[in-house]
Amino acid sequence: MEQIRPEISASQKKIIHGVYVISTRLGNKVNAMTAAWVARASFSPPLITVSIGKTRHSHNMIKESGVFAVNVLGNDNIETGKRFGLKSGAKTDKFAGLEYDTKATGSPILRDCLAWMDCKVTAFHDAGDHTLFIGEVLDAGVLRHDAPTLIYDRDKFFK
Ligand SMILES: Cc1cc2nc3c(=O)[nH]c(=O)nc-3n(C[C@H](O)[C@H](O)[C@H](O)COP(=O)(O)O)c2cc1C
Repeated sequence: MEQIRPEISASQKKIIHGVYVISTRLGNKVNAMTAAWVARASFSPPLITVSIGKTRHSHNMIKESGVFAVNVLGNDNIETGKRFGLKSGAKTDKFAGLEYDTKATGSPILRDCLAWMDCKVTAFHDAGDHTLFIGEVLDAGVLRHDAPTLIYDRDKFFK
């Protein structure tokens, strides 16, 4: 892997991200992963971008299925972020024992999150060791207003 200059990494870490769970469905298999590199991209149609590492199990599932849902975590959902972000669905069923809903695409919608957006992939772009997926929001909902969106803080997840 190319050595990144420390000042480049340090500068990039000053960018603020929220924390989201990106879920998907391929046939009868569901999976999800935690992601911080998520952003709005267009008002009309409503588009969202998610940057997914090429080594993630979710990466090929999203590429093949063409669908994903964005679940917005609250600042009281750190354990959910860890559940989906610290192990791969390649070997474990991260949804074991967890009930979820499904909407237009069949991607899991978490019951305990602030809001969700169910998306179909309209384009994807190679972005180094990640792929940038652009999703059109087909359906969405707000579940809770009682907590602020979880802001990504490395120490909360990797200490
Ligand atoms: C807080 C947090 C943020 C993360 N953000 C991203 C991200 O934006 N993109 C990404 O590819 N991986 C991200 N990850 C790592 C994936 O969630 C992790 O590799 C996960 O195990 C992949 O699951 P999968 O193999 O089942 O797809 C993040 C992890 C955490 C804990």
